[in-house]
Amino acid sequence: MFELYLDTADAKQVARFNACLPIKGITTNPSILAKSGKGLKQVLSELDSVIGSGGRYHVQVVSQTVDNIVEEAKNIHKLPYDMVVKIPATEVGLAAIKKIKAEKITVLATAIYSAQQGFLAALCGADYLAPYVNRIDAMGANGNGVVADLQLLLNQHHLESKILPASFKNVQQVMDVLKLGVGAITLPYDIAVQLFAHPSVQPAVDQFSHDWQEAFGSKLSFES
Ligand code: G3P
Repeated sequence: MFELYLDTADAKQVARFNACLPIKGITTNPSILAKSGKGLKQVLSELDSVIGSGGRYHVQVVSQTVDNIVEEAKNIHKLPYDMVVKIPATEVGLAAIKKIKAEKITVLATAIYSAQQGFLAALCGADYLAPYVNRIDAMGANGNGVVADLQLLLNQHHLESKILPASFKNVQQVMDVLKLGVGAITLPYDIAVQLFAHPSVQPAVDQFSHDWQEAFGSKLSFES
């Protein structure tokens, strides 16, 4: 089942899309939380009051050593929500992921910039893999190509990790990874807004409304 996430800590932004889309949950990172100016517990409480039970929250560790990452992951996991622990897929992070998976904690390997890096995280048992599509593109490389290669490697080696691409700056990047069949995605708010923003849609709806009112005034369809 495809999982749609928003990459934000802002409950108002989440409320807008939770009303009209089947939002699975929220992804955050330390920069997003720092920008919100709120602590994790407050943010989770606000998001939970919007999304309700069943919402899944991806929260990143800030520790830097294996033992500290494992300890922080256990504490994130204990929070009273459906938590996924995000761990950067560095050498230290991969060591931590190996240990954490022995504890049956759900893990997302983040800060993925190459297919081989994502593949190693999958071998370590990461449940989700987050390649940074726009950041890769911005380096002059091919973010979509990294996602495609990673999806191929997972398929070829029968690994069950789900790719959850992150970091988008335009709708084309989003459409390209969706066409690859990824199992999840996280969208920044402004890109989610743009998915609705085709300039021809509202004029078409307005024309229908105009034609109807000319013929039937304020009657509704079933009253005509
Ligand atoms: O969590 C990773 C993702 O949010 C990065 O996005 O826009 O900072 O490249 P961005």
